[in-house]
Amino acid sequence: MMIEKLVIREHLEGVPDAKRIYQKIVEDVDVKLKDDEMLLKTLYVSVDPYLHGIALDTPIGDHMGADSIMQVVEAGPKAMFKVGDLVQGFGGWRSHVISTGAEALWQTGTFPMVFPAYRKLEPKRYDHALPITTALGVMGGTGMTAWGTLTKFMKIKQGDTLMISGASGAIGEIVGQLAKRSGARIVGTAGAPEKIKYLKGLGFDAVINYKQEDTPEKLRAALGAAAPHGIDKYFDQIGGDITDVVFSMLNVNSQVAVCWQWAVQIGKEYVGPRLLPYIMFPRATIRGIYCLEWFTPENWLELHDVFGGLIRRGAVKYSETIYEGFDNILDAYQRLFVGSEQNRGKVLVKL
Ligand SMILES: NC(=O)c1ccc[n+]([C@@H]2O[C@H](COP(=O)([O-])OP(=O)(O)OC[C@H]3O[C@@H](n4cnc5c(N)ncnc54)[C@H](OP(=O)(O)O)[C@@H]3O)[C@@H](O)[C@H]2O)c1
Repeated sequence: MMIEKLVIREHLEGVPDAKRIYQKIVEDVDVKLKDDEMLLKTLYVSVDPYLHGIALDTPIGDHMGADSIMQVVEAGPKAMFKVGDLVQGFGGWRSHVISTGAEALWQTGTFPMVFPAYRKLEPKRYDHALPITTALGVMGGTGMTAWGTLTKFMKIKQGDTLMISGASGAIGEIVGQLAKRSGARIVGTAGAPEKIKYLKGLGFDAVINYKQEDTPEKLRAALGAAAPHGIDKYFDQIGGDITDVVFSMLNVNSQVAVCWQWAVQIGKEYVGPRLLPYIMFPRATIRGIYCLEWFTPENWLELHDVFGGLIRRGAVKYSETIYEGFDNILDAYQRLFVGSEQNRGKVLVKL
């Protein structure tokens, strides 16, 4: 059978140039499954900014890994799932996958990574309010990152000011809405007037356009007005100048969640640990966020029942931007970095 896949052609740093980095290959594969293997058809693939780091660590010629939703079309007698089952896993940008679905160690990277075993998606848990696509978004890694941070690390109190850098993304908009429900003042950054309006519609108290407030001085003035009593909680996805300014505004016993560092990983602003006195005086706690640690059956159930319940009742809103067709994966991915104004919430591609 013919299998389409995107492989790494070149390792390129900085803002990704998807057409140079990736190459489409169509392979004629003679499918002969081992007893514990499955042939899965990919239905949806995720595109995420962190994939740039994965691409840099993937050997040239290997297929591109990514989160995906797949359906089992053939299964060996000892396979983990049966024909027709829907699963979510790190299947990659491939039209079809041959796999056991077992947990996989990936050690070519900067960090030793373990990709979790594929998880079965129970059809009864997905409906109009929470379609199957949410297994890559609010009911998947996106939701678990936001929900896990706010239930297992960051304790939002009534009257706190929470600052979110990169607030208009799939994770940022959820973190903001959940923290608002706990009584916090929510401040964020976004790069387009339409996104600022959208976030305010979700309940954000103030949103700073980081493309206009593009110097540390302008950012400081804007943040000073948006958070006049300082910052108690900081959900950081960007780093760079925004984080420098926020550190100097942290209140006593503040908490900082480091979810990503766009400025370092894409912008290549390698500056090292700085401004640590700003952590000492307010006795701030900084914690790295790595959502895979929360991928347990109990946490998935809680995410579906408690957070999913909030979505079903309309208490939390989410968005998805869905591109169509294998040949649009690279365009969808490129638009995370250049021309992201039209994107809302989780970006994925339907194959
Ligand atoms: N730690 C973890 O466990 C974990 C798990 C999942 C994801 N992540 C990472 O968390 C981050 C957010 O994920 P997501 O799914 O919410 O991504 P997303 O939906 O793509 O959102 C990222 C946001 O970054 C903003 N952005 C784009 N270019 C920028 C630039 N040059 N400077 C500053 N901001 C820029 C965009 O907003 P504007 O258009 O408003 O600029 C975009 O909405 C990603 O970087 C992702 O890789 C971490």
